[in-house]
Amino acid sequence: MSLPDHLEEITASLLEKGVAEAPEAVIILGSGLGSFSNYIENSTHIPYSSIPHFPATSVQGHSGELITGEIEGHPIIAFSGRFHHYEGFTFEQTALPVYVADILEAEKLIISNAAGAINTAFNVGDLMVIEDVMRQNFRITPRGKSRFRYSHYQWVDTVRELAAKLGIATRQGTYIYVKGPNYETKAEIQAFRTIGADAVGMSTVPELMEAARLGIKTAAISLISNMAAGVTDGKLNHDEVTEAADLRKDDFSNLVQKLIKEL
Ligand code: HPA
Repeated sequence: MSLPDHLEEITASLLEKGVAEAPEAVIILGSGLGSFSNYIENSTHIPYSSIPHFPATSVQGHSGELITGEIEGHPIIAFSGRFHHYEGFTFEQTALPVYVADILEAEKLIISNAAGAINTAFNVGDLMVIEDVMRQNFRITPRGKSRFRYSHYQWVDTVRELAAKLGIATRQGTYIYVKGPNYETKAEIQAFRTIGADAVGMSTVPELMEAARLGIKTAAISLISNMAAGVTDGKLNHDEVTEAADLRKDDFSNLVQKLIKEL
């Protein structure tokens, strides 16, 4: 049985464990950005392993739990730890938080990730609001889905304005999705720059695609954790992701709280 067949069982289990119906927001916390969960009031931490049919994440920097609680009285659900294609999950497993948002009728979805900068004007620690996406592998969406148009452009200006109100400067750009888990080659990054990509990463696009298909209001933010392969001479490693995230975790958490309340 594929994942959608299990959604009812998953939802029933979540409601039984105290997850709010009709939350204000579902938030997916990217690598190193889990500290947002410190701001969640009246929180309950639910390990993925205690939820039926939930995949088990195996990535360093991801805790693998769902946190339910409130931000200034707004009920929210945060996924600390996500499901990547490179871990062997299906497209539908990678988009699981989106189906949960849909079935619980969340007002909005806030997606975050760590990404490598392809755009040479970007710096490590920048926050980029994702305006558009590219799929290196065009066949990520399984057969049998209805047709839809990617439509998240509509919220980009508002997300950036809300950030500016907090004094947080943001970038705006196109995120190219690679399957990973290996980093890209220099030649690939050069090619991606030529076709117009600003940042590269191994997540988010399946989630954005399903959110667009299901018509969920969505903000997506990349934390630039490193310059992509060949932009600088440095070797790429996962520690950079955590270091860059540490630098910006307060701004990131403030922005997410603002989006929960005002987007
Ligand atoms: N490439 C792919 N994914 C990433 C990177 C990168 O440079 N940085 C963080 N996630």
